[in-house]
Amino acid sequence: MSRALLALATLALAASASAQKIQLPCERITGIAGCVECKSSPKECYLCQRTLSPVWTADGKIWQCKATVVGAACTRASGDSNCVRCDGTVPQWCTECKVGTRFNANYRCIAGTCPQYSRNARCASSGCTADGTCARCAAAGEILLLANAIYSNALWSDTLCMTLAQLNNEARTLTGRNAVVPAGCVSVDTLFRCNQCRPGLSLTGGKCVTYAAGNKCLPRVAYREYCARCNATGDKCVACNGNRMSINGVCNLPCKQMFGIGCLACTPAFCTRADPAYLNGRR
Ligand SMILES: *[C@@H]1O[C@H](CO)[C@@H](O)[C@H](O)[C@H]1NC(C)=O
Repeated sequence: MSRALLALATLALAASASAQKIQLPCERITGIAGCVECKSSPKECYLCQRTLSPVWTADGKIWQCKATVVGAACTRASGDSNCVRCDGTVPQWCTECKVGTRFNANYRCIAGTCPQYSRNARCASSGCTADGTCARCAAAGEILLLANAIYSNALWSDTLCMTLAQLNNEARTLTGRNAVVPAGCVSVDTLFRCNQCRPGLSLTGGKCVTYAAGNKCLPRVAYREYCARCNATGDKCVACNGNRMSINGVCNLPCKQMFGIGCLACTPAFCTRADPAYLNGRR
């Protein structure tokens, strides 16, 4: 999750302060705090939570997920004013550029386009959300999916673009059935269910319909493409699609993307509810 999203979400943290942090399935399985993707036998952590840095053993296995360095301490250590997150072990190393910028070959953050900073080269040029992740593919026939839907170790990109046939192949391999993709759908969630329709359409009742007929959210509602239903005046989302959670009426938290497939509900900082279907990971 990017800095912009965190900042937005932190504003609202007080509202959800009563929520309790739970232990993620992969933390229990591996004994590594902050591990979000893993395998149980043999025990191995594949991915640390976004806000943590992996620390590797000599033979290339993650043994710790360490707090990263942010803010002024990170800009100072990295010497890069566009860097928003630095490695927990070697703070000189920038690990995340601010939204709108991307790494060059020397790991400096320079201005970039959405396909560049989302790290999805097949992303539409205007397809990024406010948090800098890709939400829509450039090619009309391609569907976006979260990388952690099919890979446990998705360090290089959060999202992937596939044709419907490729997507259904992946979905059948992992879930035994095709992806759920109604006409007009442009992206699916970690469970291969549509979570967003093409621009101008709202996903409501499993179909892509106009905003007026569907979720009734006004254009000013951020992330309204992920909203299932807005309140009567259309300025607050009260139900989100596709494993997203709402903070102050905005569906900005992709919990399974942030905390792994075992997380059903979350705050910006931690998972608050386990998904009973994935207590031992995907399989
Ligand atoms: C919808 O939510 C907004 C923002 O909280 C609020 O200002 C508005 O009054 C709500 N509308 C209704 C009908 O409750």
